[in-house]
Amino acid sequence: MAYHSVIVGCGAYLPDRVVTNQELAERIDTTDEWIIERTGIRRRHIAAEGETTCDLAQAAGLAALRNADLQADDLDLIVLATATPDNTFPATATEVQARLGLRHGAAFDVHAVCSGFIYALAVADNFLKTGQARTALVIGAETFSRILDWKDRTTCVLFGDGAGAVVLRREDGAPDVARQGIISTHLHSDGRYKEHLYVDGGPSSTQSTGYLRMAGREVFRHAVTNLAGVVQEALTANNLTAADVDWVVPHQANQRILDATARKLQLDPARVVSTVSQHANTSAASVPLALTTAVNDGRIERGQLLILEAMGGGFTWGAGLVRW
Ligand code: ACO
Repeated sequence: MAYHSVIVGCGAYLPDRVVTNQELAERIDTTDEWIIERTGIRRRHIAAEGETTCDLAQAAGLAALRNADLQADDLDLIVLATATPDNTFPATATEVQARLGLRHGAAFDVHAVCSGFIYALAVADNFLKTGQARTALVIGAETFSRILDWKDRTTCVLFGDGAGAVVLRREDGAPDVARQGIISTHLHSDGRYKEHLYVDGGPSSTQSTGYLRMAGREVFRHAVTNLAGVVQEALTANNLTAADVDWVVPHQANQRILDATARKLQLDPARVVSTVSQHANTSAASVPLALTTAVNDGRIERGQLLILEAMGGGFTWGAGLVRW
């Protein structure tokens, strides 16, 4: 029997606290104008003291379940993408599983930094397609504020905290461009570029958490090339062109990356969902956060063709083509 997965619900959660560029400019040598001009970011949400990735993930997961009209008990798989887990182990996914009161199924984390949600979506989709699971919760959740060097103006202005989630349901029949569901996913990595984007700590190297370090220009250059490449790959694999896409739901790193990628693909920028001004870069949370925003405000409608894409540390990058 062939199967495909359908995204039957989505949800998001953002911490209450909003930090504006102006507020950052009072603490470090930067300006609202510089941040907006170079990134498009105006504000970001920052987790409260004691509020963890698991808290954000749980709230987004519950919102997605509500949106899907399902109970936690209906799930048999939780895949959670994060680079900022509560603990080195256990996986944050199993903590979410416990909080949802779920005693069956499997739960684990996926680590691909900003591409994490696309990776997690691909993993869950493949579990459903092989018949190994029936209903999956896929979460992207991060508290990047905890790994930022708040004295480094070249990185700390770029990120925010948040979480987003989707619920996948297995349906009969192979994936098909014409029918609702995940049509295909495409993943890539190239481990040669670690020094451009990494955290300078970890349990096995320094026994400390460390801080995010980035060569912004290098990341920018690779991001546009890799993202345009993987979107084109997804379209070509399904005999589609950019004109067939209703909405691009990209990883929200920088407005200039969104614009440059759309230009390279000759995509109408009005068809690119952008939330970067309000959320900044929330790493693995950014794609499901942007998706939920555009679904809730009515831009994304059932039947439309979406391409989700992301690139992040590793480097890792990927795309998913979805008939909503
Ligand atoms: N405020 C004021 N000035 C700043 C700031 C700041 N926050 N940060 C850097 N500057 C200064 C620099 O010191 C430099 O000054 P100098 O010319 O006197 O040396 C000047 O601004 C220009 O710095 P650049 O790094 O060359 O600026 P650039 O135009 O490349 O923009 C940025 C930097 C925004 C980081 C850009 O390179 C970028 O967005 N890169 C992509 C990185 C990214 O999004 N990473 C996220 C993770 S990966 C992903 O999600 C795809």
